[in-house]
Amino acid sequence: MKLKPLSEIPEERIFELVERMDDRGPRYTSYPTAPVWKSDLPVEYLSEELASLSNSDRPVAVYLHLPYCRQRCLYCGCNSFITYDSERIASYLASLQREISQVAAALPQPVSYEWLHLGGGTPTHLPPNALAGLLDHLERQLPGVESAERSIEVDPRVTTPEHLQLLRERGFGRISIGLQDLNPQVQQAIQREYSFVEMQAFVKSCRQSGFQSINIDLIYGLPFQTRVSWLETLEQVLQLAPDRLACFGYAHLPERLKHQRLIKEENLPLSRERLGMLLDANRFLVKQGYCAIGLDHFALPGDKLALAQQSGSLWRNFMGYTEIRGLEMIGFGASAISEFNTLYTQSEPNPERYRELIESGKSPLIRGHRLDHDDVIRRQLINDLMCNLIIRIPEAADQAGVEYRAQLENCLERLTPFCEDDLIIPLDSGGYQVTPLGQLFLRNLAMQFDRYLPDQQVTFSRTV
Ligand SMILES: C[S@@+](CC[C@H](N)C(=O)[O-])C[C@H]1O[C@@H](n2cnc3c(N)ncnc32)[C@H](O)[C@@H]1O
Ligand code: SF4
Repeated sequence: MKLKPLSEIPEERIFELVERMDDRGPRYTSYPTAPVWKSDLPVEYLSEELASLSNSDRPVAVYLHLPYCRQRCLYCGCNSFITYDSERIASYLASLQREISQVAAALPQPVSYEWLHLGGGTPTHLPPNALAGLLDHLERQLPGVESAERSIEVDPRVTTPEHLQLLRERGFGRISIGLQDLNPQVQQAIQREYSFVEMQAFVKSCRQSGFQSINIDLIYGLPFQTRVSWLETLEQVLQLAPDRLACFGYAHLPERLKHQRLIKEENLPLSRERLGMLLDANRFLVKQGYCAIGLDHFALPGDKLALAQQSGSLWRNFMGYTEIRGLEMIGFGASAISEFNTLYTQSEPNPERYRELIESGKSPLIRGHRLDHDDVIRRQLINDLMCNLIIRIPEAADQAGVEYRAQLENCLERLTPFCEDDLIIPLDSGGYQVTPLGQLFLRNLAMQFDRYLPDQQVTFSRTV
């Protein structure tokens, strides 16, 4: 089936559609989304899930959250804290290691660990020897984790050649670099400054150290960004030849994030300009040979993510897109999320309170959700939409009976207006295929299947 690429659709038509569908909504890194989770989840649910993991057909990912950074970037929406206090960091690491030991005691043998990801905050704000100590502890406690594919998020300003050497020695093959934007005025407004030449040197040293896959994070919609400046950033970034790129829309939530109040609203691009940046990124990167992956990622055609999207096996979790479908995840550290087939849990986000809980022998969990059959089916539907661009009632719905299937089919009927606008097209085999135009509206489409959305009081970011 030949789908019309975005480059052949007049901008005015896209602007008109976005204005009509202007909405706020979740990013669906989980379903049900975190605001639905409850604080009274019994902690035994987690131990039961952990105890049942010993099965090689249930691949597991491990996530470690390292929340500290050197300085505050004004746009930041991550769970991050600024500190230079090495004792504070060391205490956090001690508690993190204690949590790892506690969870390890509840785990059966063997577990097939497929992926290990270090995120934050800024994991490389830790000195290399502290990172090495943490990895030693993890490997002692979780046998088998040494063969998992390893990735890490880094801030290039604090990542030294010693960090890169250590990470390579410890088997990290993927590195994700936060670059965001290269325009000096934009950088000044977000308090994050470096030159293109510095970035070139950093990427070169990552390649020389032997990283096989380099991802670069960019953000559109930042203060003072224009379509012209954004295209200049994209052109320069392509000279760095990343294997993958993430182009996140700036989530401006000053009512929740105090530091974002220092970004003046009048300096933010207007919604048309912002949308133009998204279109420019898509057109430019696709023209340069990248595949548009899901909501906001781009990957070279031979990259595992692009191959997984083609074969319909792409998956998504809190760490981002992954080629491993159905991956379950154990998260460690402040704010870390664990995800299993029928359970989500999240730990206390404040590192000091997290430490207190761990050190007093209590569970660090603050909320979670046990998925019922309907949640599991809708999650699969939403994940297939967000990853593989297909809307189809999962086979599991049939087992739940005719009435249940009819309920989901009612949701499909809500998609008629999306179909009339060419955002999706019906498939002969049933369901819909999302078009390149529809790919801009994945969040709006997913919202049609969210059973909990009508009752939520939370302010979400803009969907496009
Ligand atoms: C954990 S953070 C960053 C890793 C590392 N600390 C750094 O800054 O380079 C992961 C990514 O989230 C994105 N991000 C952070 N805050 C955001 C926001 N408010 N809106 C959109 N994207 C955001 C940035 O692209 C960032 O690189
Ligand atoms: S963007 Fe990265 S370096 Fe900046 S404050 Fe957030 S987590 Fe820290």
